[in-house]
Amino acid sequence: SSAPLIDGLGRRISYLRLSVTDRCDLRCRYCMAEDMIFLPKSAVLSIEEMGELAARFVARGVRRIRLTGGEPLVRRGIDTLAMRLGALIGHGLDELTLTTNAMRLAEHAPMLAAAGVRRINVSLDTLDPAAFRHITRVGDLAVALRGIEAARNAGLAVKINMVALAGLNEDQLLPMLDHCARAGCDLTLIETMPLGEIADDRSDHYIPLHQFIAPLREARAIYPVDKRTGGPARYFAVEDSPVTLGLITPLSDNFCATCNRIRLTVEGRVYMCLGKDDHVDLRAALRDGGDVNGLIDAALAGKPRAHDFHIERESKPAVARHMSATGG
Ligand code: GTP
Ligand code: 5AD
Ligand code: SF4
Repeated sequence: SSAPLIDGLGRRISYLRLSVTDRCDLRCRYCMAEDMIFLPKSAVLSIEEMGELAARFVARGVRRIRLTGGEPLVRRGIDTLAMRLGALIGHGLDELTLTTNAMRLAEHAPMLAAAGVRRINVSLDTLDPAAFRHITRVGDLAVALRGIEAARNAGLAVKINMVALAGLNEDQLLPMLDHCARAGCDLTLIETMPLGEIADDRSDHYIPLHQFIAPLREARAIYPVDKRTGGPARYFAVEDSPVTLGLITPLSDNFCATCNRIRLTVEGRVYMCLGKDDHVDLRAALRDGGDVNGLIDAALAGKPRAHDFHIERESKPAVARHMSATGG
């Protein structure tokens, strides 16, 4: 079937987030528990299977693919997959992108550029080495910064993703903006979303973005700009800065009405919404020659209208799975 992907509410699906592994070389506190159990090899799709499924989505109108994880650059064969999907650019696919923690970016940036990737998003919540270690539990800030520099040198546009965390990085917004200006990056801020049990109570660190950016607004004016990336961010220009600032506000001002995306996990599950458990499992159908497109259609018909994220003291996460299962 090459019928376009339209959900039960008339939303056109044109953006696929492809999680290529549930594993990661960091353990960010808002993303993972300390003792994550990862999927066994037998449960995960091969690189060939992921390429095959992704190509089927492109045949049905997906125009953007974002590779995620876990951490996509820890998946063996990621270069093969990037090349395979990059070859679809101009043949249905408009854009291939990736979201990474940058730990292995220095090694992979030239490969990504060669595959046709033009821009990437890099998760970086702080420029303070001790705070970086605390938030990621195991990460080395200098490695991340070198990775970002290597990506810029390879010609990739870089957007930094900074999750706003009360008490952990509120002091970092102005330094991060200045760093992005020097490094030639853009900056997007994200409200923390409640997926999976983590060590902390999420209400201790949740802060709405209007509050997080209040000090910036006192220092400099910000103006809406009509840049669009197909993602949920709203973009702003900042007075006296070359940096385009993105705001992603799933909690304080959600954007579900215009949702254009679905997620495919490394197990072959398609999740209809980041904030819901609704999914279909394509792995068996793919392996046994079953009706993959029929399963996708049935699931799309029931794609939820919106997530129901909320963060209050001792509130349970909206879904049990961790962010790392779908890469956001
Ligand atoms: P571009 O707009 O293409 O640059 O990417 P993006 O911002 O959509 O992707 P990225 O992987 O950088 O994700 C940034 C944040 O947006 C992460 O916290 C994601 O979980 C979040 N996000 C992406 N898509 C959705 C969505 O459909 N719903 C919600 N609630 N959050 C999303
Ligand atoms: N809430 C919001 N964003 C998150 N990310 C990881 N976990 C969460 C969470 N609980 C971000 C990462 C990465 C992007 C894909 O999602 O920092 O940049
Ligand atoms: Fe790894 Fe990304 Fe989760 Fe951090 S947010 S633990 S870098 S998957």
